[in-house]
Amino acid sequence: EGGRDLVGQRVVVTAAGTREPIDPVRFIANRSSGRMGFAIAAEAARRGATVTLIAGPSTLATPSGVTRVDVETAADMQAAVEAIESMDIFVGAAAVADYRVAAPADHKLKKDGEPLRLELVPNPDIIRGVAARADRPFVIGFAAETEHVREHAATKRVAKGMDLICANEVGEGRGFDRPDNALLLLWEGGERDLAQADKRHLAGEIFDTYHQIKQD
Ligand code: PMT
Repeated sequence: EGGRDLVGQRVVVTAAGTREPIDPVRFIANRSSGRMGFAIAAEAARRGATVTLIAGPSTLATPSGVTRVDVETAADMQAAVEAIESMDIFVGAAAVADYRVAAPADHKLKKDGEPLRLELVPNPDIIRGVAARADRPFVIGFAAETEHVREHAATKRVAKGMDLICANEVGEGRGFDRPDNALLLLWEGGERDLAQADKRHLAGEIFDTYHQIKQD
């Protein structure tokens, strides 16, 4: 169980991967299922927060007491986040595509036996935009890394202006699309190692750490 220690807090969570269209029937995607972000949204709601979950395509059920906004592309996700005027805590658990196809085709691309080249252009950074707000919330982000997890996450936290980063090693059988995960939490002047556990349990540890940082 545990206490309702987020009563009165407006929490916004992004979850799942984005889809970037190539043509009307094809897209570029990633392996995020939404489980981590949905678990965070569920835990925040259980703790009494007012929760908005901005979700890329996912087959998961909406956690009870959570307002869900479905989006597809990184641009859609950014617009949905920007539409929320004020928030107390932002959690970016989504695997946002770093690039999109520069000019998606209006019609299904035909194959002609020749190599096909797609031009990709960078997507805006959603969490960086949230951290740059005048009335910035407490910003919690993730880092999905395949190597040098601590160093890359520490650099990413500062570069994106996050208060707390949750780093996970991803790859074969790790992080994505499974019920459990292991996280390294890093913040200014502190860190915490969370051993492999259910994502819902980890969500609780993340909010416990948030309270600890606010107290220091
Ligand atoms: O959904 P699951 O299957 O449960 O898997 C969980 C997870 C592995 C997807 C999750 O734990 C995780 O690591 N999420 C972040 C994945 C990611 O995109 O990491 P990144 O290191 O590329 O991005 C760093 C941070 O910037 C993230 O908070 C991300 O949401 C944010 N970002 C990234 C790009 C972008 N254009 N805008 C962003 O806001």
